[in-house]
Amino acid sequence: MEKKVIYSAVQPSGNLTIGNYLGAIRNWVKMQSEYDCFYAVANMHAITVKQEPAELRRRTLELAALYIACGIDPEQCALYVQSHVPQHAELCWVLNTIAYVGEMSRMTQFKDKSQKHAENINMGLMDYPVLMAADILLYGAQCVPVGADQKQHVEIARDLAIRFNNRYGETFAVPEPLILKGGAKISSLQDPTKKMSKSDENPNASVFLADDRDTIIRKFKRAVTDSDNAIRASDDKPGITNLLNIYCAFRPCTLEEAEREFEGKGYGDFKLAVGETVADALAPIQEAQKKLLSDKTYLAEILKGGAEKAYKAARRTLSKVYRKIGFYQGE
Ligand code: TRP
Repeated sequence: MEKKVIYSAVQPSGNLTIGNYLGAIRNWVKMQSEYDCFYAVANMHAITVKQEPAELRRRTLELAALYIACGIDPEQCALYVQSHVPQHAELCWVLNTIAYVGEMSRMTQFKDKSQKHAENINMGLMDYPVLMAADILLYGAQCVPVGADQKQHVEIARDLAIRFNNRYGETFAVPEPLILKGGAKISSLQDPTKKMSKSDENPNASVFLADDRDTIIRKFKRAVTDSDNAIRASDDKPGITNLLNIYCAFRPCTLEEAEREFEGKGYGDFKLAVGETVADALAPIQEAQKKLLSDKTYLAEILKGGAEKAYKAARRTLSKVYRKIGFYQGE
């Protein structure tokens, strides 16, 4: 039986947080042996907001190295840089002609980013979900593991696949978002009602994968909690619940086990334990990433191999699409 296809990507903009790791990359690792996986560094998406060119280039490599450091095996998956495979832009153009301005302007992320980058509401920002649909549909991905904030974008990819298939005949697999529990929703340490974000202005709100041990422990010490002193998860205790979720995800253990472990303990001890657990879990990843980044030739080789694998699959799909829509492709 053919393996199911999985597609996912992260943008090389900003530093990744533990939320990105738990919600995305860590789960990708678990899926790689069972599925046919395509994992990209979405640099084409990244330029929908202003990027410093040298920094974008550096972050692209850092992110690729991080994938591998987290356990993505480039032999098993296609690990590549989005702009290395030109079919993403080509399919995006075709999908643009069946995507409506109305639906794109209603997307939550577009509205948020338009507010945040009011001086730069460019066409790419609005087209972002269509490019993402192209990413997914090029590989016939049935399943797209993402954080909860990307669910709406995967739904647009579904809508576009169905719309295209209705208009031109069965062409695309219809993808499903896979919102992974336990880590898909890690909140800000400073405002636990908000998602932990890589672009939060408050540096204490997010724990980055690149943070050193002292920084991690300090951020958890300063995490906003409540004036009660019970360490248990509940809706009216969003700060403690978030810390418990983070602790359980990294330890790993169940909520009940963690609640039992910290019964009768104070918030100070608990926060320190969370910080230490996270720092311990990140140390080997940081070490492995550093080692990979010291050998750029090896990394470039890996990414070239990944792009070749992706290119083969993408070319097949695009050729089919061009045939369906009536693009002359020679004899
Ligand atoms: N938009 C995603 C994010 O910011 C990254 C992304 C780009 C992606 N293309 C994708 C995710 C395709 C899943 C599938 O997190």
